[in-house]
Amino acid sequence: MQQQEFAKPMLREGALDGKVILITGGGTGLGKAMGKYFSELGAKVLIASRKSDVLEKTALEISAATKNEVFPVQCDVSDYKQVEELLKKSLDKFGRVDGLVNNAAGNFISPTERLSNKAFDAVINIVLKGTYNCTLAFGKHWIEKQQKATVLNIVTTYSWTGSAFVVPSAAAKAGVLAITRSLAVEWAKYGIRFNAIAPGLFPTKGAWDRLLPGDLKNNFDLKKKVPLNRVGEHQELSNLAAYLISDFSAFINGEVVTIDGGEWLNGAGQFNILQAIKNEQWDEIERMVRSVKGS
Ligand code: HXC
Ligand code: NAP
Repeated sequence: MQQQEFAKPMLREGALDGKVILITGGGTGLGKAMGKYFSELGAKVLIASRKSDVLEKTALEISAATKNEVFPVQCDVSDYKQVEELLKKSLDKFGRVDGLVNNAAGNFISPTERLSNKAFDAVINIVLKGTYNCTLAFGKHWIEKQQKATVLNIVTTYSWTGSAFVVPSAAAKAGVLAITRSLAVEWAKYGIRFNAIAPGLFPTKGAWDRLLPGDLKNNFDLKKKVPLNRVGEHQELSNLAAYLISDFSAFINGEVVTIDGGEWLNGAGQFNILQAIKNEQWDEIERMVRSVKGS
């Protein structure tokens, strides 16, 4: 089958030449997809997460495909000391870091009353604390060195709507969005830009195993929530991420770009439910509405 246009690489060859970009959670899922594309575009990529075996495998796989260096660093982003160590290792390896993608996340579905305080902590510590740990450590470095940089935070659409059954994640992602918008203003004077991407449904093993385990995958057809009636392709998210982390987006700052096929708005619009009405029913409905006079 011919590849759809949206699933093809978008930026020109060499668009990220000379850039060094760190992606947290870059060993799997969307982080891996972004890392591969940034590497294809010429960036030196660092990937960081807790599982060194996964990172090493991904780094080898990407660099074999792109012939570009990919450096794996074991790091638990919820631990500030490890993040400072990550900064040091990144500088030792490449001398500089130009872009940070705060992508690492933890999440699972659960009624909130079933959660222990530690379960809540586990998610908040990865998502919110991990993001501010990396942002603070790298930000202080950039400011001290007077180096321009770009930060891209991966949030979700429930950062602003909230969502039942993923409350720690929703709270943490809302915090990450607040950091994005706050520092976009505060650190613009240092030449540090902040943007976010809010992906809709992009199947990955990490997310699907925890959010749609077992039969849930079959019982809930999530595509039905999406007006465009499909899920996202990793490449189309990577295209957007590459643009936002690159200098081509130099005037975009403090923005959150939703890439969800219209899913969250579909749930929000009061009369969106009328999509269920068939075209041939509208003549009769219009007649009834027009017949209402002066009441
Ligand atoms: C209730 C749970 C639980 C569950 C863990 N806990 N899983 N409670 N229901 N399903 C509790 C544990 O019992 C423990 O509390 C506490 O949480 C910490 O658990 P650990 O396993 O020790 O934590 P840790 O090893 O740090 O693992 C973190 C994790 C795990 C979040 C629980 O799932 C993980 O490592 N995830 C990383 C990858 C991931 O989640 N990817 C998906 C991102 S998807 P007690 O009290 O017993 O000590 C995403 C997409 C959103 O964000 C939008 C999609 C459309
Ligand atoms: P994923 O493959 O599970 O990715 C999560 C990554 O985070 C893993 O590589 C994991 O690696 C890393 N991680 C977890 N805890 C960490 C910690 N303490 N320190 C460092 N790294 C840690 O899931 P994904 O679907 O690709 O998610 C990527 C991002 O997209 C997340 O921010 C998620 O919220 C967001 N998102 C995804 C979707 C979707 O549909 N997939 C939708 C909206 C938003 P280790 O286990 O090795 O640490």
